[in-house]
Amino acid sequence: MQSCDVLVIGGGAAGLMCAITAGQRGLRAVVIEHANRVGKKILMSGGGRCNFTNTGASPAQYLSANRHFCKSALARYTPAHFIELVDRHGIAWHEKELGQLFCDESSKQIVKMLLDECEAAGVRIHTQCSIERVAHGDSGQFHLHTTRGAFSAPALVVASGGLSIPSMGASGFGFELARQFGHSVLPTRAGLVPLTLSGKHQERLEDLSGVAFPVEARCGKAAFHNHLLITHRGISGPAILQISSYWQPGDDLRLDLLPGQDALESLHRWQAQRPAAELKTVLGDVLPKRFAQRLCEVWLPNRPMKQYNEPQLRELAAQLEAWPLVASGTEGYRTAEVTLGGVDTDELSSSTMQSRRVPGLYFIGEVVDVTGWLGGYNFQWAWASAHAAGSAV
Ligand code: FDA
Repeated sequence: MQSCDVLVIGGGAAGLMCAITAGQRGLRAVVIEHANRVGKKILMSGGGRCNFTNTGASPAQYLSANRHFCKSALARYTPAHFIELVDRHGIAWHEKELGQLFCDESSKQIVKMLLDECEAAGVRIHTQCSIERVAHGDSGQFHLHTTRGAFSAPALVVASGGLSIPSMGASGFGFELARQFGHSVLPTRAGLVPLTLSGKHQERLEDLSGVAFPVEARCGKAAFHNHLLITHRGISGPAILQISSYWQPGDDLRLDLLPGQDALESLHRWQAQRPAAELKTVLGDVLPKRFAQRLCEVWLPNRPMKQYNEPQLRELAAQLEAWPLVASGTEGYRTAEVTLGGVDTDELSSSTMQSRRVPGLYFIGEVVDVTGWLGGYNFQWAWASAHAAGSAV
């Protein structure tokens, strides 16, 4: 039995950061990772350049049954703290848009930085190490029985992530472990994921696969102004990935096809300036031509602008500003960036991430019911929740 001060399950963003924080405090931290290497999701993130944080990160960009839970950790470990770490390692970065920070070169640099920090903090990492059993002894010690021997520690941090991208090592292990210790797990579903269309909706758009344009996607009170991308099976792009975290089958999804402009005012202007031009032609100047044409073949009545009367213009404006698109589902965990839901925050301390049920047990990162928007927010939650736990164990 190898003993240490803190055992961390999962060598992803959260697990490594937690082990570093604990190690820097002089604790002996051991990371148990079942994949053949740590940080696989970091490597594939941000198109290989890792969108490692967002300078505007605040609790407003996180979904959780308890919207207040993330506040304390996010306030104590901010984007500025992570930027300071990245700068200290000489990693060049840039802001792409909307506060999203990416490495100039490669996400490999972030993994190397975390591994260098682990080494400096004396963290031991075991990869290809599968956990067979987790026990909690009377003495308060946690015992992990693994394919690489048994480990014990008075603190156990679960940082095994969510269900997205099983081929990268994702597993439901953290949720099962939470249940084993009497924790509630809120229903999970894929988030930041492309939406699928079916039947005539798919048939009408599938040959436009690859066409992209800005929209405002709306579902309930959520709205995101960014690009939509038509795919072979449905729709994707940042606006759709964002809204997918708020959408569930049966929900009303609306797209403003002329975001940032008053559609009725534009229609009036086009009618006055180009009375003989057909609707598909004027729309083709502000939307991709092939999409404008399809819209006018299938969804909107196409005729010369001068032939629309005022009620018809109002109807067109309403359609353009709130185009209803019936999605049939999502692409699921195979392509989802995150898992919504997870370990119920009601049973965790928001300042330390410690279980209120089992002293010494902690949950951090994506396994917890806190999910960020697209744009570096999820890594910021991983760093912040990990730092909170690593400072408390
Ligand atoms: P994470 O999934 O990173 O790590 C969990 C670790 O636990 C994994 O290494 C896994 O193998 C291991 N594990 C699982 N079960 C285990 C078991 N039973 N025993 C031992 N180990 C086990 N976010 C962002 O902010 N910016 C971005 O650019 C991106 N880009 C992005 C791209 C893609 C394709 C995906 C899928 C996701 C993103 N994300 C993102 C989201 C981000 O990757 C995610 O929120 C964090 O990786 C979550 O960090 P965790 O450490 O909680 O889980």
